[in-house]
Amino acid sequence: MGVQSLAVACGALALCLALTTATNPGFVVRITQAGLDYANQQGIAILEKELAQLKLPDISGKSGKLRYTVSRLRIPSFRLPHSRITPIPNVGLQVSISNAFAELDGDWRVKVFFVRSHGSFNLKVEDVYIKITLRLGSDTTGKPTIRTSDCSARISNVRVRFSGKFGWFYNLFRGKIASKLRKSLESKLCDNVARSVQNELQRHIQTLPVTARIDDKTGIDYSLVAPPRTTAQSLDLDLKGEFYSLDHRSTVPFSPLPLAFPSDHNRMVYFGASSYFFNTAGIAYHKAGALVFEITEAMLPKDAGFRLDTSVFSAFIPQLEEMYPNMTMKFRLSAPTAPFLTIGPGGISFQPTVDAQAYAILPNSSLAPLFLLSLTGNVSAVINVRSGRIVGSVDVGRIRLSLKDSAVGNFEVEFLQSIMNYLTSNVLLPHVNARLDEGFPLALPNRIQLSNILVKYRQNFLLLGADVHFQPQK
Ligand SMILES: *[C@@H]1O[C@H](CO)[C@@H](O)[C@H](O)[C@H]1NC(C)=O
Ligand SMILES: *[C@@H]1O[C@H](CO)[C@@H](O)[C@H](O)[C@H]1NC(C)=O
Ligand SMILES: *[C@@H]1O[C@H](CO)[C@@H](O)[C@H](O)[C@H]1NC(C)=O
Repeated sequence: MGVQSLAVACGALALCLALTTATNPGFVVRITQAGLDYANQQGIAILEKELAQLKLPDISGKSGKLRYTVSRLRIPSFRLPHSRITPIPNVGLQVSISNAFAELDGDWRVKVFFVRSHGSFNLKVEDVYIKITLRLGSDTTGKPTIRTSDCSARISNVRVRFSGKFGWFYNLFRGKIASKLRKSLESKLCDNVARSVQNELQRHIQTLPVTARIDDKTGIDYSLVAPPRTTAQSLDLDLKGEFYSLDHRSTVPFSPLPLAFPSDHNRMVYFGASSYFFNTAGIAYHKAGALVFEITEAMLPKDAGFRLDTSVFSAFIPQLEEMYPNMTMKFRLSAPTAPFLTIGPGGISFQPTVDAQAYAILPNSSLAPLFLLSLTGNVSAVINVRSGRIVGSVDVGRIRLSLKDSAVGNFEVEFLQSIMNYLTSNVLLPHVNARLDEGFPLALPNRIQLSNILVKYRQNFLLLGADVHFQPQK
């Protein structure tokens, strides 16, 4: 192997190592140019207000024997009619503002020998160009950080008009004052933008929680696993996307698989929910003891045509007649392990295993364990988004039974096939689907609504596209 090919091999190896050690996200948020345009439209009004509060220092100077001061500079309006936020690959976001204009007013004072005078003035600033580069990063807690890394401001046109007794006099050297004001304003603009980014934007981002409670049992961790990434088309946020049990959070025994995000960009935002996201939800609910369900006599549909009691089951298990005659029964279903689903272009599927423990309810209400069945089946799931929540429904094919344990001797499990099929599809599934139809919150920031939703199944993840709408603050 030549030196060169060795170097290439090492380079490739280093790249492979870097790729395998990088943490894949469990959840990806992609903001497209359409999303940035919407954010720009919403954010520019805030910047206009910020800039109108800009404080300019007094200006004083001398011209021969004349001393002048302009003070109490105010900006009654600052208009930013043309602005755009664009992603700059591997750098961050660029905010470009062009043809902005502002009005300023203030007081002037002048002193020549012993003569003093004062008045007010009005200034029009036109053709203001501001270009700001925002660098995005992440801190050790996985929160995003934002700072201004570059800012330039240019004003090409300033028109001043002085009024008052000596206004005509001021107008003689207004060019000088206009140029001082222009320089002062140009430097203040960037200071102010940097301060707004630091004080408003960064501070606001720091208040965003990186974990959110989903319900009384689980929470979700959406801290950044890498600094935000920018490409020419989008801003991507790689989030952990991991559910955990509120009672006892533990390490997840598997890692997220890489997500091959498509280059769609019609919607403002895209979410990639990895199979990791759903599987950690399975673990969290399993740990929290939520994957338990009891089927009792009272839950049978009216038209079931049979009762849940030992008289019915003794037709298949004759020993019951003798051991527990004429007693009501119940089933306790639980998942011995968390369900593990896979997502592919064809949809979502999984093969859960469910333990079904049958009990006879004794006259004194205590439970006598009868037998333990293991149920497996192929389950397919459909997922959608409704009102900011992930909702779904599942369907199960034919279930397969096996006997794991019995306190009533041996029997042929096949005899129970149709009864167990009936119980799963008419009692368990409707219950599960009612819960899934309630959904799980997407953990969106307040006041954000989604519309125009698109759902696609991809290898290892679910792709959601949507347009965003900010709810105005009430
Ligand atoms: C079974 O129990 C029900 C109600 O507890 C009772 O009405 C019925 O007579 C009993 N049948 C037998 C065969 O013991
Ligand atoms: C209920 O009855 C069974 C059998 O008759 C007995 O073994 C059990 O101890 C009783 N349980 C209670 C709580 O009284
Ligand atoms: C589930 O589907 C797979 C492949 O389609 C099949 O081999 C397996 O027997 C099915 N399992 C059950 C319980 O139907």
